[in-house]
Amino acid sequence: MLDTAQNRPDLPPEIARRRTFAIISHPDAGKTTLTEKFLLFGGAIQMAGQVRAKGEARRTRSDFMQMEKDRGISVSASAMSFDFKEFRFNLVDTPGHSDFSEDTYRTLTAVDAAVMVIDGAKGVESQTRKLFEVCRLRDLPILTFCNKMDRESRDVFEIIDEIQENLAIDVTPASWPIGQGRDFLGCYDILRDRLELMDRADRNKVAESIEINGLDDPKLAEHVPAALLAQLREELEMARELLPKLNPQAVLEGHMTPIWFGSAINSFGVKELMNGIGLYGPEPQIQSATPREILPEESKVSGFVFKVQANMDPKHRDRVAFVRMASGHFKRGMKLTHVRSKKPMAISNPVLFLASDRELAEEAWAGDIIGIPNHGQLRIGDTLTEGEALRVTGIPSFAPELLQGVRAGDPMKSKHLEKALMQFAEEGAAKVFKPSIGSGFIVGVVGQLQFEVLASRIEMEYGLPVRFEASQFTSARWVNGDRVAVDKFVTANKQHIAHDHDGDIVYLTRLQWDIDRIERDHPEVKLTATKEMM
Ligand code: G4P
Repeated sequence: MLDTAQNRPDLPPEIARRRTFAIISHPDAGKTTLTEKFLLFGGAIQMAGQVRAKGEARRTRSDFMQMEKDRGISVSASAMSFDFKEFRFNLVDTPGHSDFSEDTYRTLTAVDAAVMVIDGAKGVESQTRKLFEVCRLRDLPILTFCNKMDRESRDVFEIIDEIQENLAIDVTPASWPIGQGRDFLGCYDILRDRLELMDRADRNKVAESIEINGLDDPKLAEHVPAALLAQLREELEMARELLPKLNPQAVLEGHMTPIWFGSAINSFGVKELMNGIGLYGPEPQIQSATPREILPEESKVSGFVFKVQANMDPKHRDRVAFVRMASGHFKRGMKLTHVRSKKPMAISNPVLFLASDRELAEEAWAGDIIGIPNHGQLRIGDTLTEGEALRVTGIPSFAPELLQGVRAGDPMKSKHLEKALMQFAEEGAAKVFKPSIGSGFIVGVVGQLQFEVLASRIEMEYGLPVRFEASQFTSARWVNGDRVAVDKFVTANKQHIAHDHDGDIVYLTRLQWDIDRIERDHPEVKLTATKEMM
């Protein structure tokens, strides 16, 4: 058995060694750089630089489109598997832009932990805070990496305080930086009593690691100048008094985050962080589902779709459904039941994502992410099992915040447009509503950029120029309740009613007042801003 602190100690070893996590950060904090170093030390890439190009491509809209054109790359980057020591890491990518928050939310339903990267000069930034809140909703364990310590950074106590106060989580230092900016030497590894020295000459070289016998070890003075050493001793003394000690259980429960200091670009602190993910990150966890939860160690295989990516190859309208395995030991060729349609599906070409390559997944264990190519049967929120009618819960769909009408540039092509829109709706890239009166569609998104990306994808993937235009509606709510009451409501409000791509009834309006009025006057119907995907 692995010597780790865990809350599920009886898992089969193959499952117990899996760590499935995402990285959350504000743009520019160093997520791409850190990902690349993970892959490098995980043996998944040979050379730094392979992932960088992609990170840069994220920055501007036009480059983003370019990246979207190259769907192959963005698909491989959605999930990456690699080994580190005795562990198998599954790193799931979260979309970088804040406009894609719903996608991010769903991605975080597929992981057991998150690594939060912050910039040592900037501390907790807006996007970090938002993503953190999403993790908090699920009590996801969080490990923190404070990056860019090779540059001028903020005071360490100040950074830790900020995280504790802003995010309301206990912070315990796993390492402590020695010196700052140009004088940054490396870190004292508090968990393992080692001195880690940074090599500025070779960015891909792993730090020199020196075993130390406590803070009074004379070896320290051989490597650390007297002034810095005195400061280190003083700060560690203070840290010991002021900050909580590492409590692995509190980490697993999401109440405490260990923090490592480092410099991703200099490969510094990255291996210590990876060790930390292995030792203190959670094993595959129990999955909430109805009518019962799913334990990873169950012998029967199950999994759920948390992301769908369409049109990877525009010539064949194929899609890849990303499935998080929730239990069991999957083998290629297995027949699984698609619970929503109750139909069997032979999973003959599942793929595993290894950095820039995809390869056939001969097997997968609970915790792994596999891609299943399909023709549209698999949708976000779908559950696959060996026959039992289980449905994974907690994968929401949010009401969009921006609505626009959409028309095909060529009116003869509106059937094509419908097909394209439905495909994007299934992929989760947008909400598509068909009003019950009149023609045309209303598209709903969370951020403005999504309209532009959609227009460009519809043109690129379907050869169909489209126009988005202002809609008379600004809000959408799903309509639920007793069938007779809902029917009556629909008849009385025809000009506000539309259907989403699943055929569910939606109420569209431009006035919050309308929504409040309906809630007051029609308690028998419920208007909701989220619906669970199934
Ligand atoms: P992101 O994915 O979170 O957006 O961040 P990314 O890794 O792309 O890093 C953002 C910028 O920060 C990049 O600089 C990157 O080189 C730099 N960076 C990452 N880690 C470190 C670090 O440990 N120390 C320092 N000093 N810089 C770091 P850039 O100028 O935007 O790109 P480039 O010209 O370096 O490629």
